[in-house]
Amino acid sequence: MKVLLRAAALLSLVLTLPVLAAGDAAAGKAKAAVCAACHGMDGNSVVAMWPKIAGQHAPYIERQLALIKSGARAVPEMMGISAGLSEQDMADLAAYFGSQKTSPAVADPALVELGQRIYKAGIPKREVPACMSCHGPAGEGNPLSGYPALAGQHATYTAKMLTRYEAGETWGEGDEASTIMTEVADTLLASEIEAVASYIQGLHGTIE
Ligand code: HEC
Ligand code: HEC
Repeated sequence: MKVLLRAAALLSLVLTLPVLAAGDAAAGKAKAAVCAACHGMDGNSVVAMWPKIAGQHAPYIERQLALIKSGARAVPEMMGISAGLSEQDMADLAAYFGSQKTSPAVADPALVELGQRIYKAGIPKREVPACMSCHGPAGEGNPLSGYPALAGQHATYTAKMLTRYEAGETWGEGDEASTIMTEVADTLLASEIEAVASYIQGLHGTIE
């Protein structure tokens, strides 16, 4: 059953995050070659459909790898690879990619105004909360709360994710974190997704 959360309720949700293994970035680097073909050796993929994972919070990377391995988040491209990853491998890879720097990118000037408005203020009349309230003013996210960094991410990937959340896709029934995003994206229009995704691509992760 779909529970419609109001923006305020969404913002007061506290996620229960699992305790994760400690990763070793140097060990992760040695294991990262198999990821490079798609995500780039430093985690900055050059193909817009493949997410940049450089500079992403290690706990978020680790969580996604576990979800991908279990199949809760279906990523056909990674099926063969994720099956062979141990918990320690995932922690090490997360520590390595998380320690890399996200490559900067720019927003489409024609989309900035709408994108920025949604990012900073949400869409109050449809109870869409401001993205900034969880993902931070510069797209830096919040590792302790489980809110991923978004800054500099390929707009194509971000728009794809928002479209999937808008359609109600989660990483399994009862998965709180992805359910939050289905509630957030619930009423977003394709034009709004395009604009906010472009704005996010131009964010730099540090407050200037
Ligand atoms: C053949 C291409 C390919 C390879 C190789 C690959 N990935 Fe991926 N990865 C993808 C794609 C495509 C997605 C996005 C899937 C989606 O749309 O949900 C993804 C998603 C991810 C995500 C989630 C990112 C996010 O922002 O939510 C992480 C983390 C990740 N990959 C890590 C890795 C690691 C670590 C390796 C190496 C062990 C690896 N990937 C190897 C294609 C690949
Ligand atoms: C109440 C907090 C909250 C708000 C508000 C919020 N998000 Fe999120 N968002 C999350 C969480 C938590 C996740 C991680 C889901 C997971 O762990 O699988 C997420 C994930 C995402 C992702 C996927 C990132 C990736 O690398 O795959 C995108 C894109 C995203 N959010 C965009 C937005 C946009 C755009 C808005 C505003 C319209 C927004 N979010 C508002 C909490 C929030």
